[in-house]
Amino acid sequence: MCCHYTTPDRRSGAGRYYDARRMPAPTVIMLAAGEGTRMRSAVPKVLHPICGRPMLLWPLHAVRAAGAERVVVVDNPRRRLADILPEDVEVAIQAEPLGTGDAVAAAAEHVRRDAPVLVINGDMPLITADAIAALVAAHASAGAAATLASMELADPSGYGRVLRGADGNVIGVVETKEEGDPTAEQLAVREVNAGLYAFDGGALLDALGALGADNAKGERYLPDVLPVLLEAGLAVQAHALADPDLALGVNDRVDLARVTRLAQRRLHAAHQRAGVTIVDPESTLIEAGVTIGADTVIEPSCFLRGETAIGAGCVIGPLSTVIDCRLGDGVRVLHSYLEGADAAEGVTIGPFAYLRPGADLRAGAKAGTFVEIKNAVVGAGSKVPHLSYVGDADIGTHTNLGAGTITANYDGRAKHRTRIGDRVRVSVDTAFVAPVSVGDDAYTAAGSVITDDVPPGALGVARERQRNVEGYAERVARRSEREP
Ligand code: UD1
Ligand code: CA
Repeated sequence: MCCHYTTPDRRSGAGRYYDARRMPAPTVIMLAAGEGTRMRSAVPKVLHPICGRPMLLWPLHAVRAAGAERVVVVDNPRRRLADILPEDVEVAIQAEPLGTGDAVAAAAEHVRRDAPVLVINGDMPLITADAIAALVAAHASAGAAATLASMELADPSGYGRVLRGADGNVIGVVETKEEGDPTAEQLAVREVNAGLYAFDGGALLDALGALGADNAKGERYLPDVLPVLLEAGLAVQAHALADPDLALGVNDRVDLARVTRLAQRRLHAAHQRAGVTIVDPESTLIEAGVTIGADTVIEPSCFLRGETAIGAGCVIGPLSTVIDCRLGDGVRVLHSYLEGADAAEGVTIGPFAYLRPGADLRAGAKAGTFVEIKNAVVGAGSKVPHLSYVGDADIGTHTNLGAGTITANYDGRAKHRTRIGDRVRVSVDTAFVAPVSVGDDAYTAAGSVITDDVPPGALGVARERQRNVEGYAERVARRSEREP
């Protein structure tokens, strides 16, 4: 087996580490069939989100970015993972959770004898494409049958320890979760198995056939193929990971929080390098699906979640939540909660605005203080400055809705739309009882309950005329003298 790996060519944007003309790209087997019992969860461990993305998709993106052609995910018979996996990922089913070696055996039909195989635990979300490529390259250049990634940890508890012979060569891995497996001397080893391996396909298939379950748990452990390979006279090596954080595994929710923090830092750094100011990273949550343009400032205590896209030169926050929104350039969001909303260039939002799904604010529009908008277009340059509810409405351009404008969009059975034209002046405390329309350049009188359409250019007045009762205060005073 002779191999050559190219380095990543970022300039071409190809993102491929493997030179397909010289050798086949590795088949990747991701192990994800375990119960994840230490999470104490009804949700499979690898589906728990990390910065908004299911755990399993983190290493999946990394192996993809490293150039893997085929990815096989090992799931259990409940098949919970298929929903989140991209279509071109294959799934193999491990009938019972009998150990990581058994899990790889469940994917054996996908393994090519003449190609390398990369096996990766599905619970190591921080691994990077660079680290994977470096492991595969080290494997190829050594001509080894197996290369396992290892790392030195200050606190190695819970991990399998790498065992080395008198000559310093790797001879195996001992698991440490169960008492009785490791000796005290082995427990003192700080070099651990990361849970990421490159194998020669044929050698792996042969060794899996000879894999026993001679351990306290009675499981078939994948690292136990190493002594089998050595026995067969094949070479086995360890490849040290540059940064031990890369291979942090998630077994319980303490690990989940630790890994989430590191993943968040990595996302922050990517945005910062791309020109985004994050004033207080510690209080800022930015999920993996969020994009942000250059020169945007994220003020403290913001939560940017889901598939949110924020333009350039915006100011977001402080204290704002933005979920699944699309914000154009130069948008300002102050102390507000936005979900499923669109805001075009130059829109201003808040303080204390609540934009709900379908809120669509066109260029230069404003949703001000204590304003709730849902399923409504607010046309270019139009303003809803204070204390309003706008739902199921189409508002034209350069229209102003006075304080206390309410769309009465629901009659108890169905929702109806309110249509308001361009350059309309809606006075304070106007209620629109939908369905109802207001023409361009129209007005409404303060305190009106608009139940009928207002034609273009008209003033809609829909309120009682004011009546003054003269001398009222005197009448009250006399009455209280008579009836003390
Ligand atoms: C495993 C390694 C350990 C290493 C550590 C790194 C083994 C036996 N031990 O331990 O040496 O230090 O990872 O994090 O491999 N899985 C299955 N089917 C099973 C069992 C597990 O698919 O029957 C999957 C799990 O879903 C998980 C991965 O394999 O994604 C690792 O399993 P886990 O039980 O977390 O292994 P560790 O105890 O962490
Ligand atoms: Ca694990």
